Amino acid sequence: MVSAKSGKAMADNTAGASFPWDETLAELSGPADGALNIASACADRHVTAGRGGNVAVRWLGRRQERRDITYLQLSDLSGRAAAVLTSLGVSPGDTVAVLLDRVPELYAAALGIWKAGGVYCPLFAAFGPGPIKARLEIGKARVLIASEELYARKLEASRGALPQLEHVLLVSEDGGLSRPHDGCSDFRALLAATPAMEPVATTADSPAFLHFTSGTTGTPKGALHPHRAVLAHLVTAQTVFGLGEGDIFWCTADPGWVTSTAYGVIAPLVAGATVLVDEADVEPRRWYGILHDEKVTAWYTTPTSIRTMMRFGAALARSYRENSLRVVASVGEPLNGEAVSWGQKALGVPFLDTWWQTETGAIVIANAPGQGRRPGSMGKALPGVETAVMRCDGGVARQVETPDMVGELALRLNWPSLFSNYLGGDGRSGACFRDGWYFTGDLVKQDADGFFWFIGRADDMIKCGGLQIGPFEVEGMLMDHPAVAEVGVVGKPDLLLREVPVAFASLNPGFEAGDALRAELLSFARQELGVAMAPREITFIAELPKTNTGKILRRVLKAKAVGEPEGMDLLPSLPACPGRFDDE
Ligand code: PRX
Repeated sequence: MVSAKSGKAMADNTAGASFPWDETLAELSGPADGALNIASACADRHVTAGRGGNVAVRWLGRRQERRDITYLQLSDLSGRAAAVLTSLGVSPGDTVAVLLDRVPELYAAALGIWKAGGVYCPLFAAFGPGPIKARLEIGKARVLIASEELYARKLEASRGALPQLEHVLLVSEDGGLSRPHDGCSDFRALLAATPAMEPVATTADSPAFLHFTSGTTGTPKGALHPHRAVLAHLVTAQTVFGLGEGDIFWCTADPGWVTSTAYGVIAPLVAGATVLVDEADVEPRRWYGILHDEKVTAWYTTPTSIRTMMRFGAALARSYRENSLRVVASVGEPLNGEAVSWGQKALGVPFLDTWWQTETGAIVIANAPGQGRRPGSMGKALPGVETAVMRCDGGVARQVETPDMVGELALRLNWPSLFSNYLGGDGRSGACFRDGWYFTGDLVKQDADGFFWFIGRADDMIKCGGLQIGPFEVEGMLMDHPAVAEVGVVGKPDLLLREVPVAFASLNPGFEAGDALRAELLSFARQELGVAMAPREITFIAELPKTNTGKILRRVLKAKAVGEPEGMDLLPSLPACPGRFDDE
């Protein structure tokens, strides 16, 4: 395509159409015709191929504990977990929620759920009781596998309000449970007592994992992915990270994030590497030590973590520069050019940016080795992915034909890890599918060489430390406080986390704006929503700015949050498309 205006050619984005996914399917499927199971592909396949003695999972505990699980042990443990779940009545297609930190049992749980034919639905430990309960309800979880501490703190009191949750299996910090909990069993004890079973028959289309993402209403929506997604995990493990036997791959993601499921569990295992799991949170000195001592060859983290490490200075990093790193990459928010070159200086390898989202299930755009790199850009579409930059013109979506012109990133529906549908949510699921394309909601531009550059979201989602927060869910929860008449939540720029949620609230009669009420509301939000989602600031405002149709003018609130003149446009304006860009 050649633009009439600039004469520059757009990159060819159609290469993805002809990728041999069938060959990957043949490599990963079981002996039965059409069978595909993520757990069998990640564990049993390696055992059959004689790699059962290789370390599948190397776990490092907060207090310097260390545990290795071989592929043979993982195959057995996951068979036992499947048998436990099946004995509790889990049938193919049932959701099993998981509320665990980065502990070894996460692997038995995830692979066991897949072997039982269930749907693995991990939840963020940093969420409060409200968001956790909402997700259990929408996901219709029948069983929950949780840490004893998280369950006691976040769910035990409201268990009665979750009638569909039939069983809770608890994992204690060490050994057995610290006390009996009504209607709960000890997951480790059950694993030890139950012989392994063979995986139930699943196919590429069987539902496998469910992650919640923020919707355009107060209700989160669950993106459901099929077992077929594992094809994309194997291919991206190889094309982006070059993973195979002998690699030590470290993914720092929280288990509640799709990044953990895809690259903290599935991708390294299906590629036959060793996945390193560190229980601790971001701690730069510890992290450098791990990269060095554990001989990590490929590392996947977030820009927020990279910025945290940068704050500790390159000198500290350079003292660990003797390392085995081949690839370091990040995801979740834009990675600026400075961070890319800092990686080179500090660790000897540049950070590579990768782009994807819960819905895509796996990396689709990356600065992958062999494809060229452009610091500051998200990279190019990976082999097997067909992309377009779209603008809406009179309600019709058209592909942009001029390089560097902003539009919405769209992907062809022929990528195996694309989600199959949303559970719950806002009833607008269909709006993101149009004419054989999935519209991602991200505004980007593509240069003449095919590199994509992130511009912003087309909607109001807030990105805080990589976590996507829907302002509507936060607003809904704040409205439950009797003082709040109306509330608008927006993202305020933050040097470390990129954005933090901040709230503007008007009050009901009889409540007085002031520090005491502000402190009460902030504490209410932290308790209900959890620290990850709660607003960091609350500003009282007589009346929220609204459009003629009564929608909150978030643009004005964003400007207020940073003290800029109201009404300043933070993003380039795009022609309106029905169901998109129609908020103002
Ligand atoms: O806006 C994009 C941003 O994160 C969103 C997806 O968030 P989530 O579903 O939580 O999944 C994140 C991890 C897979 C995207 O729509 N995002 C992701 N990667 C990048 C990014 N923004 C800029 N640059 C990236 N590399």
